[in-house]
Amino acid sequence: RPVVFSGMQPSSDSLHLGNYLGALVNWVALQDTYDPIYCVVDLHAITVQQDPAALHANVRRTAAQYLASGVDLERSTLFVQSHVPAHAELAWVLSTITGFGEASRMTQFKDKSAKQGADATTVGLFTYPVLMAADILLYGTELVPVGDDQRQHLELTRDLAGRFNSRFGDTFVVPEALIPTESARIYDLQEPTAKMSKSANSEAGLVKLMDEPAVTAKKFRSAVTDTGREVRYDPAGKPGISNLLDILAATTGRSIVELEIEYEGRGYGDFKKDVAEAVVERLTPIRARTLELLEDPAELDRLLAIGAEKASERAERMLRTAYDRVGFIRRG
Ligand code: TYM
Repeated sequence: RPVVFSGMQPSSDSLHLGNYLGALVNWVALQDTYDPIYCVVDLHAITVQQDPAALHANVRRTAAQYLASGVDLERSTLFVQSHVPAHAELAWVLSTITGFGEASRMTQFKDKSAKQGADATTVGLFTYPVLMAADILLYGTELVPVGDDQRQHLELTRDLAGRFNSRFGDTFVVPEALIPTESARIYDLQEPTAKMSKSANSEAGLVKLMDEPAVTAKKFRSAVTDTGREVRYDPAGKPGISNLLDILAATTGRSIVELEIEYEGRGYGDFKKDVAEAVVERLTPIRARTLELLEDPAELDRLLAIGAEKASERAERMLRTAYDRVGFIRRG
């Protein structure tokens, strides 16, 4: 079975609706036909200022949310990135074939470093995409389910795989990104031209998987729309309504056109209420299951240890091959 790899940062107490609709839904769907490996990328999470106690709690919380969303350990491997040292080790090798200019062009780095200022921006943040390439290339990954914001990082990963292969001999599989059509970019409910993000200015536009249902419903009821009255898909002219249409389409499996027809001549109030209901219905069992899983951290740790064992074995094999190819001698 072809390998799927993806990961999320444990950088908040909850994943958000963008993480869920942009990536996690695809993670779950791919389990039937692929060999998926899903990772809690804690090494990535320390590339910006972080609180160790919060990170410590959020690693398990993130893993629990994967499981509660439908990641199934009979079919998928689930592990924590720092438990498999090969990720950091391959990242080092890949950093030596990454151009400084090439890494400087990553828009996510440019955005984040502009926001933080030069003094707070670390070398770790700069090399973030190289570590991400290592994550993917260690497993012979063919498909990487992510949201649209990861497109450029996937391009870099493909370039690095191709470059390594042509310089040192065929080693890595060149992966493809799997990016959804309607929900690849979910926007902030209060600021519908900005991507929904853990680091949003205010919580009001950020829909968290772990929010209480009443809180989620309220966030949708107060979502920013426009002064018109038509529920019509027009991302440039009606970003708020279009975002809500994307969300409703992705949560119900219905098409945008179908939804436009259904809400013709009806007010925004009705529409927002329905979006809230659909999302709450979808997220409520996920939240409940996550809380249940978190009641037994020892069991979660046991499951993560099994995953780390399986992942290590595969990663070590690829790392050894890469080390051989660049000319390192094996430890005798
Ligand atoms: P992270 O934690 O920032 O995001 C996790 C996933 O959620 C998607 N996403 C969104 N999708 C739609 N709309 C949004 N507003 C939105 N916000 C986030 C992201 O595209 C991502 O799929 N760099 C990765 C983590 C990573 C990784 C990897 C992914 C590290 N190594 C290897 C794949 C393969 C990231 O952005 O995490």
